[in-house]
Amino acid sequence: MIQVIKKIDETIELISMKSEEIEVVVSNYGCTIVKVLMKDENGHVDDVVLGYDDFTNYQTLDAYLGALVGRVANRIGKGSFQLNDKEYHLAINNGPNHLHGGIKGFSYQTFDYKIVDDSTIEFHYLSKDGEEGYPGNLDLKVIYQLQGDTLTVRYLATTDKDTLINITNHSYFNLSGKKENIYEHELMVCADTFACIDADGLPTGQIKKVDQTPFDLRDSAMIGERIELEDEQLKLGMGFDHPFLFNMKKNQVVLYHPKTKRRLVVSTTLPGAQIYTANYLDGRLGKYGHHYYKRDAICIETQNLPDAIHLEKEPTTILRKGETYDEVTSYKFEVVK
Ligand code: BGC
Repeated sequence: MIQVIKKIDETIELISMKSEEIEVVVSNYGCTIVKVLMKDENGHVDDVVLGYDDFTNYQTLDAYLGALVGRVANRIGKGSFQLNDKEYHLAINNGPNHLHGGIKGFSYQTFDYKIVDDSTIEFHYLSKDGEEGYPGNLDLKVIYQLQGDTLTVRYLATTDKDTLINITNHSYFNLSGKKENIYEHELMVCADTFACIDADGLPTGQIKKVDQTPFDLRDSAMIGERIELEDEQLKLGMGFDHPFLFNMKKNQVVLYHPKTKRRLVVSTTLPGAQIYTANYLDGRLGKYGHHYYKRDAICIETQNLPDAIHLEKEPTTILRKGETYDEVTSYKFEVVK
């Protein structure tokens, strides 16, 4: 069932998507996932994503809690790039680099939407040629569908000029549903390589094997047993804040909280995910009177390689005129029996 549950103002609304198993509350502002309510093994319902009670915080603060991020998620080195022999300059909003689509990226835009049926919402946003410095009118459709315990998100985009695109969702998960850090979550990432970053979080171009590093999450491992290990890359990221490349059988990340038996399975058509352990949360006030500090959640941001425009021979983040960007990520929220 889908229904509007709150009007924030003339154009922004909170919409509830409900199935037998879970309830997901979303907004057409930034396609933000505001709540995910799920049971634990005893049937006790908790909210397993971070967010704000005061909606203006989504509009004014950084950290992108629950938001869709674009036009290009993550960093673009020095905020500039060349495409078809033309040089483009974007906002420098993260150290020396461009981050998450700029000052007013898609996370801070209001989408039109329609409720398609009792499990599907279709959001739409037209990003104008030159918005935040990016070329081309980008027409973006985002479809949220809730079936049983699974939220499926599909991104469809076209452009009238060659441009860059890398869309993700920036939800902060904590399956305990409590105010505690994510050290007692197990994490499995189907990746045998990850991208090394510099002190500003920008991929250096070095792709490293996970073997014998804290990044070897091919078999699930307790986050708390990895994150404090002595490792140059963990130090640079202040924890995990790295692109993992799905080069095994599945494009999948699994997060499990043994105490509640809640499990999240993220599956995607995209070739990687930024795993970010909320290293920069600063004590801000979130939902239920909780103050959010570093490591209080984990983001699983499915995407193409950050800064692909500088690092890949044939950058996967280029969307050509006439092509369609069509990617799907699903989030299965289940209780393990
Ligand atoms: C980035 C972090 C950044 C966070 C919030 C993540 O995707 O990798 O470095 O602090 O988003 O902006």
